[in-house]
Parts: sequence; C-alpha cells; structure tokens
Amino acid sequence: MKLKDKIALVTGASRGIGRAACVALAREGANIVGTARTAADLSTLEAELTKLGVKSTMIAGDVTQANDVARVVDGALGAFGRVDILVNNAGMGGYRPFLEWSEADYDKIMATNAKSTWLYCKAVIPHMLEAGGGHIVNVSSVAGLAGYPHEGIYCMSKFAQVALSQSLDREFYKQNIKVSLVCPGGVHTHFAIGDGRTEGAPNLEEFSTAEDVAEAIVLAALPRSRTRVVNVILRPMSEMT
Ligand SMILES: NC(=O)c1ccc[n+]([C@@H]2O[C@H](COP(=O)([O-])OP(=O)(O)OC[C@H]3O[C@@H](n4cnc5c(N)ncnc54)[C@H](OP(=O)(O)O)[C@@H]3O)[C@@H](O)[C@H]2O)c1
Repeated sequence: MKLKDKIALVTGASRGIGRAACVALAREGANIVGTARTAADLSTLEAELTKLGVKSTMIAGDVTQANDVARVVDGALGAFGRVDILVNNAGMGGYRPFLEWSEADYDKIMATNAKSTWLYCKAVIPHMLEAGGGHIVNVSSVAGLAGYPHEGIYCMSKFAQVALSQSLDREFYKQNIKVSLVCPGGVHTHFAIGDGRTEGAPNLEEFSTAEDVAEAIVLAALPRSRTRVVNVILRPMSEMT
C-alpha cells in the first residue's frame, strides 16, 4: 500500500469519479475526507471505506461556498491534523448551443468547476506549506485543453483549472507541493448524461469508467522523491484525440 496513513481530501465524493477516487485511494491505504452536498451518498461511501480498513470523515458542503470550504478543511484538520492529498474533482457540465446559456448558468458552472478549485487550493495550501509539502490533483478535462461546440462555458471553467494548476505547480514545486492535472475524455457517470445531453446522447458503454480515472488520480498522487506528474490525459477507446 503506497499511500498508507496519508490523508486525502476529495471533493465530489458522493458519486462518479470522486467516489471511485476515494475507494482507489483507500485501497492504497489513504484515510479519506469526502465532501459533496448529498449527505446520504456520503454515508454509504463511509461504510464502504470502513470495510476497506481505512479511517474516513464525511462532511457535507457546497464547493462554491467559501464558508463550506473552510468548514470542510477545518473538519479534515480536526479529524486528522493535516491534508496530504487534495483532489479537486467536484464539477458540473452542460451541453447546449451557446446562445441558450444564461448569465446564471455561467456563474454556476464557473463557480462549481473553477472557483471551487481556487477556494480549496487557497484553504489547503497554507497547511501543506506548514507540513512541508503536499499533493494537489485537479480533475479538469480534455475540454480544458481544447474547445468543443455546445460546451463553451464548461470549457472556460476547465481551461481555468488547467491555468491555475500550471500556475500553482510553478509557484510551489520548490516548496514540495506537487500539482497534477487529470484530464479525462468521456466518462460513464451521471455527469455524462447531464444537462442538455438527453437527445443524441453518446453511447456511455464506450466511455471510460470512473475507476479508470480514479486509477489515474492515484497514479498522479503516488509519492516520488524525484518526479512529479504534471498532466495525465485519458481518452476512451471510442474517441480520437
Ligand atoms: N464524466 C465525464 O465525462 C467527465 C469528463 C471529463 C472530466 N470530468 C470531470 O470529472 C469531475 C467529476 O465528474 P463526474 O463525471 O464524476 O460527475 P458526477 O457523477 O456528476 O459527480 C459530480 C460530483 O460533484 C459533486 N458536486 C457538484 N456540484 C457540487 C457543489 N456545488 N458542491 C459540492 N459538490 C458538488 C456532486 O455531488 P453532490 O451532487 O452530492 O453535491 C458529485 O459528487 C468533474 O469535475 C468533471 O468536470 C468528467
């Protein structure tokens, strides 16, 4: 077990990639702080993690709200004393023609995907510095590396995560804070059938699994003294690059 006794804080832990990441990190021995809004799903995750023999704390909260972020980070520090690994995974998408998006949609998507990542980094980095280092894994997307039709705001939010990751990597690597990006293509989760994608939905059976992405998150977060993983890009076998 390569992450034994590490403390990993994972956002969007209630389902999909975040939940799979909690399980995969726990299988490597990490103790887990999970957060999302849906407390009932966090409870079932906690039970699953207990069976894997790790400790976990679940704290319901909204990633777009600074007060909730502070409460979750305080809860993690209260339970475990530090955060070694932060996985900024919570997110939302949306697939609609550009002209159908409202200002409220813009604010919500940018807050859920981009501002949340900034809020969590800002809250956790001081504690990582105090502890002598840490690892941040930001789950962006291939939509953070190229623009796609009908996903303009989502792409903006995912590019923002890429920009922040690159900036933080260059600012903090000398202080032993590693910042990794994981950029999946289509993944078979609730998200993939989400907002606006009911008609002509893709064949989800051809998408990557949440577990495939979770493996990449673990790979990025494994301790290495001489190397840091900067970017992992995943594509389902059905998608070209
Ligand atoms: N699925 C794909 O095709 C795909 C591809 C590339 C990248 N990604 C990225 O992967 C990440 C995870 O997506 P997924 O596919 O696992 O989607 P998902 O199954 O819909 O899960 C999204 C998670 O984010 C949480 N969340 C959403 N809004 C939140 C908020 N305001 N506050 C707190 N938690 C919130 C949800 O929990 P609650 O609803 O319980 O709060 C849920 O746990 C996202 O950042 C997404 O952009 C996904």
